[in-house]
Amino acid sequence: MAKKKKICAKVVSQRVISEGVMDMLLKTSLAEDANPGQFVGVYTKDKANLLPRPISICEFDKDDQTLRLVYRIAGKGTAEFALYGTGEVVDILGILGNGFPLDKAKDKKVLVIGGGIGVPPLLGLSKELKKENTDVTMVMGYRNADTFLSSEFENCGKLLIATEDGSVGTKGNVIDACRENGVKADVIYACGPMPMLRGVASYAKEIGAKAYLSLEERMACGVGACLGCICKTKNTDEHSHVKNARICTDGPVFDADDLDI
Ligand SMILES: Cc1cc2nc3c(=O)[nH]c(=O)nc-3n(C[C@H](O)[C@H](O)[C@H](O)COP(=O)(O)OP(=O)(O)OC[C@H]3O[C@@H](n4cnc5c(N)ncnc54)[C@H](O)[C@@H]3O)c2cc1C
Ligand code: FES
Repeated sequence: MAKKKKICAKVVSQRVISEGVMDMLLKTSLAEDANPGQFVGVYTKDKANLLPRPISICEFDKDDQTLRLVYRIAGKGTAEFALYGTGEVVDILGILGNGFPLDKAKDKKVLVIGGGIGVPPLLGLSKELKKENTDVTMVMGYRNADTFLSSEFENCGKLLIATEDGSVGTKGNVIDACRENGVKADVIYACGPMPMLRGVASYAKEIGAKAYLSLEERMACGVGACLGCICKTKNTDEHSHVKNARICTDGPVFDADDLDI
């Protein structure tokens, strides 16, 4: 794994793609080390906020040296990022986390499931799977008809949508959409809120698939030092002798069979 670096990146462009959701393109040499499912820590300019905000890599372009970040304005940090225009210089820490194990998709039927602000990292993943001609079905869950990024997912394979209010696709959640359409798979990659990930883990068991889940829980240091991001695991960690793992360094992607969620 490449060494983590704190580096200056430059905003190439930024636009609103949905209510409170921003799409920011950054120019940075860190893009050369990026893989689907990894993330960066973005620092605010407010020195009172020392910790970087973890944001998943939506897409990367190693030749152009760009990272695309799609994020929801949730609080102070992300509200500050949303004000950045072209040319703004921003400190980022990366590349962080393990990313999705793409080797598991080889010659397999793959299901990619995303919910809410867990959707963005799955776009880069779906594009990589398409490049490899993988048989992929994508199921994305949204609150309403504001289905950001869905037109880009459509170019990667079969897309099913679930909305809470039923305005587009299946009324309900992503698992309702999977059931309604009888979706089967050998391998599932998923990112979204914890209740959704629990649902994905049990659906994977039901259909006999392996599931790899990206946990976007709260985080602090982002580099394994503070234990601010632990999740429960089934097996005891060799070093700490406890049944947990650090999402920032051991994850954010885990084999669902290893997690106790
Ligand atoms: C590995 C990882 C990848 C992530 N990728 C993305 C992404 O691609 N796009 C995106 O929009 N967000 C992503 N997040 C969540 C993002 O990091 C937080 O929304 C952000 O740090 C909030 O910072 P803030 O200063 O704006 O808000 P704060 O002022 O720190 O918090 C504002 C509100 O957001 C809530 N919040 C903070 N962190 C999280 C979190 N991790 N999950 C849920 N709620 C949170 C707080 O409880 C609070 O209610 C990711 C988180 C992790 C751990
Ligand atoms: S955020 Fe500090 S150990 Fe993970």
